[in-house]
Amino acid sequence: MKIGIVGLGYFSDDFVRLFNIHPDVEEVVVADLDERRVKASMEKHHLKRGFSSFEEMLEKAPDLDCIGIYTQRHLHGPMIVKAMKMGKNVISAVPIGCSVEEIEEIIKLSKETGKIYMMAETCYYYPCAIFCREKYKTGEMGRFVYGESQYYHDICEMYLDFQHTGGPNWRRVAGIPPMFYPTHSISMLFSAINEHALKVSCMGYRDNHEDNIYGEDKNNWQNPFSNETALFQMSGGGIARINEFRRVGINKPSSYITCMYGEKAAYECSVTNHSYQIGVASGKEPYIEDVGNLVNTIAYNEDLKNGKIDMNRDPISTKYIVGFAAIQDRSRLPKTFRNNPKFAHYNTHPFLVDDFVRAATTGKLPPNNAWDAARYMIPGLIAHESALKGGVLLDIPDFGAAPENWEKITYDLKDSYEDTSRFYEVAKGYLDV
Ligand SMILES: NC(=O)c1ccc[n+]([C@@H]2O[C@H](COP(=O)([O-])OP(=O)(O)OC[C@H]3O[C@@H](n4cnc5c(N)ncnc54)[C@H](O)[C@@H]3O)[C@@H](O)[C@H]2O)c1
Repeated sequence: MKIGIVGLGYFSDDFVRLFNIHPDVEEVVVADLDERRVKASMEKHHLKRGFSSFEEMLEKAPDLDCIGIYTQRHLHGPMIVKAMKMGKNVISAVPIGCSVEEIEEIIKLSKETGKIYMMAETCYYYPCAIFCREKYKTGEMGRFVYGESQYYHDICEMYLDFQHTGGPNWRRVAGIPPMFYPTHSISMLFSAINEHALKVSCMGYRDNHEDNIYGEDKNNWQNPFSNETALFQMSGGGIARINEFRRVGINKPSSYITCMYGEKAAYECSVTNHSYQIGVASGKEPYIEDVGNLVNTIAYNEDLKNGKIDMNRDPISTKYIVGFAAIQDRSRLPKTFRNNPKFAHYNTHPFLVDDFVRAATTGKLPPNNAWDAARYMIPGLIAHESALKGGVLLDIPDFGAAPENWEKITYDLKDSYEDTSRFYEVAKGYLDV
């Protein structure tokens, strides 16, 4: 496959690197409105082709069969639709789109064309999400009762991210409603229990900070809220609470599941303490287990073991989220991806890239496909509507699960992955970083 990456801001660089060293990717091409970013990326990653816009890339590189969209968060929907209409497989950074209509069209296009849409939802691959998903699948936790997950990212920490591309009017985009970016929290919890939301009631925190980002007339969405809390009625009868906070005094962790309760067992987390306990209804002797060895990063656990973490007062550093955790199965990755110890988001990018490549090269469905992405995004859009109406209970439109007869990707290692010498040549520079 050949992929064109659009948007060379802060986030996409690691994806350009990973696609470039994946054994099944023939060429990576890049595009950005800022020519300096195109030049820098081509030089850094030794790429042959670069373009000065999404549109130019689609026109002048018709041989691309896949497109990766990493533009600002509110721009994805129409770009995904355009690329899919041209017959491309598409991966995009979160979110899939910012309106129910856009998302419905992406589902329709995927169904009609058989092409893949995948949302690059890092948190789906987060260690806590994997832990809860794996445990819940065994049936040991019983029926889902209640869960809480959240994405906390203080806007003060994101000024530079928005200014980087937004120019003098960066506030107009920075003030996007928090629930228009709900897929980190929602995907972790909803994928763990494999259910979708039926109804929502949401409350908003009306912001009056002097940075003038939130408030009617201050941003493109007339959004007054910096924080939003939603309560969802789930399809299996349980309840989920999601917080999307952009004005809050917490740093790490930022995306996590605080608790997930089944009728028979429970997972709970506080910063880096992860516990799993079995209740009496399980029929077993109740116990509590510390599962931090599986869920925290290997780097963090090593530092803890060696007394390098001061539990009384620790400077919060990247070691809390940089690198793999033991529960992430690295053996399913191409060899060039396995030794990737220094990247944020719990090293989820290699899993995302590999899933998309498997899907695009086989035609099979990946996780976070159009149907999954819709169920992780639309509940947030309706939650914001509820918050604007003071928390009224609203129904959530649902476009169903992915077609059952569309085969899902599998993880058998291919022989070609064993012969990675050519890719090690390309990857050598990166592995030494
Ligand atoms: N954990 C995560 O999943 C995660 C983390 C960070 C960012 N993101 C997402 O990644 C995306 C990119 O974030 P970022 O911080 O890199 O943004 P950014 O503003 O730094 O970069 C966006 C780039 O897209 C380019 N662009 C916009 N329109 C274009 C067009 N028509 N043609 C070509 N280029 C175009 C801009 O010039 C800019 O360089 C956002 O959607 C963000 O939400 C996700």
